[in-house]
Amino acid sequence: MTVRHFLSLMDCSQAELTSLLKRGIELKDLHRQGVVYEPLKNRVLGMIFEKASTRTRVSFEAGMIQLGGQAIFLSPRDTQLGRGEPVEDSARVLSRMCDAIMIRTFAHSTLETFATHSRVPVINGLSDDLHPCQLLADMQTFLEHRGSIKGKTVAWIGDGNNMCNTYIQAAMQFDFQLRVACPEGYEPDQAWLDRAGDRVTLLRDPREAVAGAHLVCTDVFASMGQEDEAQERLRVFTPYQVTRAMLDQADPEVLFMHCLPAHRGEEVSHDLLDDPRSVVWDQAENRLHAQKALVEFLLVE
Ligand code: CP
Ligand code: NVA
Repeated sequence: MTVRHFLSLMDCSQAELTSLLKRGIELKDLHRQGVVYEPLKNRVLGMIFEKASTRTRVSFEAGMIQLGGQAIFLSPRDTQLGRGEPVEDSARVLSRMCDAIMIRTFAHSTLETFATHSRVPVINGLSDDLHPCQLLADMQTFLEHRGSIKGKTVAWIGDGNNMCNTYIQAAMQFDFQLRVACPEGYEPDQAWLDRAGDRVTLLRDPREAVAGAHLVCTDVFASMGQEDEAQERLRVFTPYQVTRAMLDQADPEVLFMHCLPAHRGEEVSHDLLDDPRSVVWDQAENRLHAQKALVEFLLVE
């Protein structure tokens, strides 16, 4: 039997993604009603974190506990992976002990290598290229606030990073138009732009991208692993700060999202996260519910 992995949004069909979002909303309702639902009793999620995390770690760990299972946090500081044990061997061993493995890493190829040698589903908890779990939460949040995102216009402002690449995939999978406004030299992955075709427009001016948009998103100027570039990026990206005035140019019903952590005064103005158009806290909460739907989908027959 082939094992289902979730390394990218492209690992699911459009129909599967749509039902994952609906299921996330159902599981959120059940949780809020205090209903105990434990289909994952005795099931274990191994979580390998090669980068820092607040939301991803806590949402997977809390989600597994709520579903009746357990999660094990593994950092390279404490495991043999950090001392050079090959990814292939780690995958063979951990996948004989755990029912699914979540990995947050640098090179996306590490996830692919791990998945090739794993007997159980592997989930991408963020790589340098993609952050698909975040997009499940973002799409669930849009659905809850505004209904279907199909046919809407989304503006991505700033770095063409892992989140931006994932928004390109989301544009294809959830059927919306995406405008990316980024400085020269900081474009998203060309292969994904080519695949998306005229669904994605590349711009330089953030105001042009935001005009009439239904959803505006941004992210940090320097991602994890780019700490050495932080000063230079701050200089290059300053014109890409998202402000309340910028959102005034969008659709009157616009939502603002940021995967967090945010740097107030850098990619967002100091007051933006508190603006009524910002849904960043719902977005963060939905990591929990969306990923519960994901692990249920991957583990419950
Ligand atoms: N958005 C997100 O993935 O947050 P963490 O880095 O805290 O996990
Ligand atoms: N682009 C950011 C996202 C953090 C959740 C990073 O990779 O650091």
